Amino acid sequence: SALGAATAANAAQGEPAPAVDRHAPASFPKDFLWGTATSAYQIEGAVNEDGRGRSIWDTFAHTPGTIADHTTADRANDHYHRYKEDVGLIKALGVKAYRFSIAWPRIFPDGTGAPNPKGLDFYNRLIDELLAKGIEPYATLYHWDLPQALEDRVGGWRSSDTSKAFADYAGYVAERVSDRVKNIFTLNEAGRFLNFGYGWGIDAPGLKLPTGELNQARHHVALGHGLAVQAIRAHARPGTKVGPAENIAACVPVFDTPENVRAAEMATRELNAGLLGVMLEGKYADGFLAYSGKDAPKFTPEELKIIGAKNDFVGLNIYAPQFYIAASDQKPGWKVLPFPASFPHMNSEWLRVGPEVIYWAPRLAAKIWNLDTIYISENGTSSEDKIAADGQVYDLDRIMFLRNYLRQLQRATAEGVPVRGYFLWSLMDNFEWIFGFEKRFGLYHVDFETQKRTAKLSAAFYREVVVRNAIGA
Ligand code: NOJ
Repeated sequence: SALGAATAANAAQGEPAPAVDRHAPASFPKDFLWGTATSAYQIEGAVNEDGRGRSIWDTFAHTPGTIADHTTADRANDHYHRYKEDVGLIKALGVKAYRFSIAWPRIFPDGTGAPNPKGLDFYNRLIDELLAKGIEPYATLYHWDLPQALEDRVGGWRSSDTSKAFADYAGYVAERVSDRVKNIFTLNEAGRFLNFGYGWGIDAPGLKLPTGELNQARHHVALGHGLAVQAIRAHARPGTKVGPAENIAACVPVFDTPENVRAAEMATRELNAGLLGVMLEGKYADGFLAYSGKDAPKFTPEELKIIGAKNDFVGLNIYAPQFYIAASDQKPGWKVLPFPASFPHMNSEWLRVGPEVIYWAPRLAAKIWNLDTIYISENGTSSEDKIAADGQVYDLDRIMFLRNYLRQLQRATAEGVPVRGYFLWSLMDNFEWIFGFEKRFGLYHVDFETQKRTAKLSAAFYREVVVRNAIGA
């Protein structure tokens, strides 16, 4: 063949073979932090053990009609008892970091007041086990499991009492773990739990608040973040780093023209004004206030100052894209595009495929808010995983998804977008909220009857990426 002849000719001249014969994986920056992630309610189980209080998710999941497969996370992955085995699974991936969440109702069963030392003991055991295995713990303080007592007493995030209680809890935990935990995420996906839980009533606590009250709850959540940052800075060892983990409204230019990029940038700022925007700018964008009108949140200048205190990093949870196009004839100057019914999605229907999203979202966020440290605090997909006759799980669609997303992430880092690390969601299959155990997001398959964990093929794929610090073709 022509290629064979060329290779022979090159070899004869002592030249290297043509590039096409060589494998050229795309490398990540030298100190890029590879990790994986989970959250407390989704994996721990042991909901009545060691003095844990009830959370709004216990109540919600036990309400008939809320969870697709009629399950609860009472047992889930039984991680509370199997955490050592699970740390072993993390270790086997070769990753350097693990993002987990601390259940507030284990620490303060009543939301406020007397702490429950046995609750913290569990996280101390987990943290020590991680460190013993050379894995850096990244702790999230709030992954949706609000103490039910606070919902009952003050109306949860409808009241700024919850913002203050959250800060007390944050300071308490930070003081006790920051000798070993150097990075703390405050709130996970505030936008999601507010809209789903307080707006549409399909997540805990199942409320459908009118827009004005929802915006006020949103403000209390932002305030909770700001007060928690303050409390952590006051109580943690110096050098402890803190930031949010947010599901940014991820706006992608439908194709790459300066006009469409500008459209996606404007949309990113406007659509994130109520949470990331106010956290990173210390003010609500004028457009947001004008648009909200009488439904705008009430706030004081002091509160904005607290909310806008500097973060050490910003975590972005990245899944599905939304596509934007420039529309100079229309008021905001941009338009969001509807998806045709034939647009491909992963096994979770909301997870429309768009690997470019993990390139554009951090790139635009870094530009708009002048960020220097971004983590992809979550990214991954569910897949209809089955154990094959030979005992393996061939999750080729997850590998396809990860390969494409990681290529785009590599492109971002190569162009200087300041993404410092990546936490794959999720370590193992778990309780996927309103979908129960039907949607499997793990690198490890879990049999929820026997609690047996089985590495999927994607775990081997991810390990390759991590070990080589590069993504192949
Ligand atoms: C975001 C949430 O933080 C996590 O809890 C959830 O399981 C994943 N996305 C997948 O939906």
